[in-house]
Order: sequence, then structure tokens, then C-alpha cells
Amino acid sequence: MNQDELMMPRPVRDSQSEMNEIVLPNDVNPLNTLLGGRLMHWIDLAGALAAHRHSRNYVVTASIDHLDFWVPVHIGDVVILRASVNRVFHTSMEVGVTVWVENYIQDEYKHVSSAYLTFVAVDAAGKRIPVPAVIPETEDQRRRYDDAGRRREIRRAEADRRKNKI
Ligand SMILES: CC(C)(COP(=O)(O)OP(=O)(O)OC[C@H]1O[C@@H](n2cnc3c(N)ncnc32)[C@H](O)[C@@H]1OP(=O)(O)O)[C@@H](O)C(=O)NCCC(=O)NCCS
Repeated sequence: MNQDELMMPRPVRDSQSEMNEIVLPNDVNPLNTLLGGRLMHWIDLAGALAAHRHSRNYVVTASIDHLDFWVPVHIGDVVILRASVNRVFHTSMEVGVTVWVENYIQDEYKHVSSAYLTFVAVDAAGKRIPVPAVIPETEDQRRRYDDAGRRREIRRAEADRRKNKI
């Protein structure tokens, strides 16, 4: 793929990724529920998968927004992580990850968490590089695209506020 082809805008669906994990004894705390840190690691990986698929390049995690864990996850549960690129800015892109838990014995399916991550594309030397635009095609994708623009402004305002405080 030459440079022009690499920079062609791509639909959100090209980045859509799913990652499944079975919760094993090494993933849990003394109460036998999933460690928050383990889930954060999986969220980062699932988000990176979508960012790689969209940018066709190396990426680094620049930030992860606020994270809530709404329901506990137990040993033997299946954790399903779905990720896609919401919006591209220049060298960075916002990826949304939603996390679900499936208990196939009790036939239950619950929403565990949602997260927004920003990844920055870099070359093999670690230098930042531009990312092709993303094309939202559905109503949900267009809403996420618009919301991502608003979230970027909030992130920047927050970063400026922190800088001025230091
Ligand atoms: C993320 C990183 C590449 C940004 O580099 P930088 O020199 O500060 O670059 P800039 O301030 O010019 O920002 C570059 C892009 O990143 C975005 N960015 C930088 N910091 C960000 C943050 N905290 N949250 C969201 N976006 C951020 C900028 O908005 C900009 O996006 P754009 O090109 O699409 O407009 C750099 O801070 C880095 O390498 N961090 C370590 C990444 C890493 O190792 N992650 C793994 C966990 S340790």
C-alpha cells in the first residue's frame, strides 16, 4: 500500500473489533471477582486493536477517560470487549470500548463498563504520524463522532487547567 492509499478515509466498520476473555483464577481478587486492573489492560488491548486496524500503523495510548465498573465479573464468566474508532483528529484518534459480561450457565448478559481512549499513531522510530479520516456511516456512529469532538475539547480544557495549576 503506497502513502496515498494509506491516507484514504476508511469507514468505522473497518476498525470494529471484538475481543473475548474467559475469567480465570489468576484474573480475580480475594473475593473471586475480576480485578479492575486486569479489565483496564483488556480495554487498552481491545482499543489498540481498533486503532491499529484503522491506522495500519503502530499506536501508543495517550489517555484513557474516566472508567466506571458497574457490575462485578466472576470466575468462569466470558468478558466481551467491542471497540471501534469514533473519530480521527490529526495524529490521534478516539476509540470507544464497551465491555459486556456473559454468564452462559445463568444465561445472563450485562453491560460492565464503557471507556474512551485516545491513541496516537507513530512510526517505528516513535515519531508521530497522521491518521486517515474515519467515515461514520450509521446514526450511532455519527452521534459518537460528534460526541468525540466535544470530548476532545473537554480533554484539552482539562489539560490546560492542569498545566496552569503546576
Ligand atoms: C501521547 C504522546 C505521543 C503525545 O506526544 P506529544 O509530544 O505530547 O504530542 P502533542 O502534544 O503534540 O500531541 C499529539 C497528539 O496527541 C494528542 N494528545 C496528546 N496528549 C493527549 C492526552 N493526554 N489525551 C488525549 N490526546 C492527547 C494531541 O491532541 C495531538 O492530537 P492530534 O495530532 O490529533 O491533534 C506522548 O505524550 C507519549 O509518547 N506518551 C507516552 C505514550 C505511552 O507510552 N503510552 C503507554 C502507556 S505508558
